Amino acid sequence: MSEKPKPNIGLDLQRIHRVITRGVAVAQEKCEAFAEAGFPDNTTREGFWKYCQGLEANAHGHHRTEDDLFFPYLRSRITGTDFDQLMAEHQELHGILAKMQAAREAGSLADLGRALSEMAELWHPHIEKEQRELSPEIMAGVMTIPEHIEMAQKAAAHSQEHAQPAPLAVPFLLYNLEADDRAHFLAVMPPVLTQQLVPVVWKDEWAPMKPFLLE
Ligand SMILES: [Fe+2]
Ligand SMILES: [Fe+2]
Repeated sequence: MSEKPKPNIGLDLQRIHRVITRGVAVAQEKCEAFAEAGFPDNTTREGFWKYCQGLEANAHGHHRTEDDLFFPYLRSRITGTDFDQLMAEHQELHGILAKMQAAREAGSLADLGRALSEMAELWHPHIEKEQRELSPEIMAGVMTIPEHIEMAQKAAAHSQEHAQPAPLAVPFLLYNLEADDRAHFLAVMPPVLTQQLVPVVWKDEWAPMKPFLLE
C-alpha cells in the first residue's frame, strides 16, 4: 500500500504549473488549427476564447500568489534563489498576458498565436528554474508540515481571489489536471465551490470550454 503523500508546497507548485503548461500547449495547437481552417461553429469559437481567458486568469493568479505570498515567505529561508529575477520574469509574463487579452478581445488568432509563442518561450525556462530551486525536497527541508498546510490554504484563497472570472478560472484549473492532481485540489477546495458553484451554478458559463478540457 502506498502512503498518502505529505502536504508539500513544492508539489502544489508543480501541479499549478501543469495546469498552465497544458493550457498554453492546447491554446497554441488549437489557435493554429482554427487560424488555418476557421472555427467549426460558434459554440467552439466561444469555448476557445473562454479557454484562453481561463488560461490568462490562472497564469495571473499563480504569479500573484508567488509574488505576494510565496516568495516573500521563502526569501529568508532559501539562499541561492534569485527571487528578484523570478519576479522580473513575472512582469514580462504579465506583459505577454496583456497581449493575449488584447488578442482575445479583438478576436485575432494571428495576434494570439504570436503572444502564445512568446509565452511558451518564457514559461518553460521559468518553471524549470522554479521547480529545480523550489523542489519538493528543498521545500520539505525548510518548512514543517503545518507550515505547508497553512501556506497551501493561503495560496488557494489568494489565487482564487486573483484568478478572475472564477466561473471560468476554477473549472479551467480543475479540468486541465489529470484525475489524481484534480482530486488533490478538490479535496482542499470549499464544498460550496466543488459541489454547487462549478457543477451547477457556473455550469452554463464554462461548458463551452469542454472540448478543450480533460474528462
Ligand atoms: Fe513563477
Ligand atoms: Fe510558478
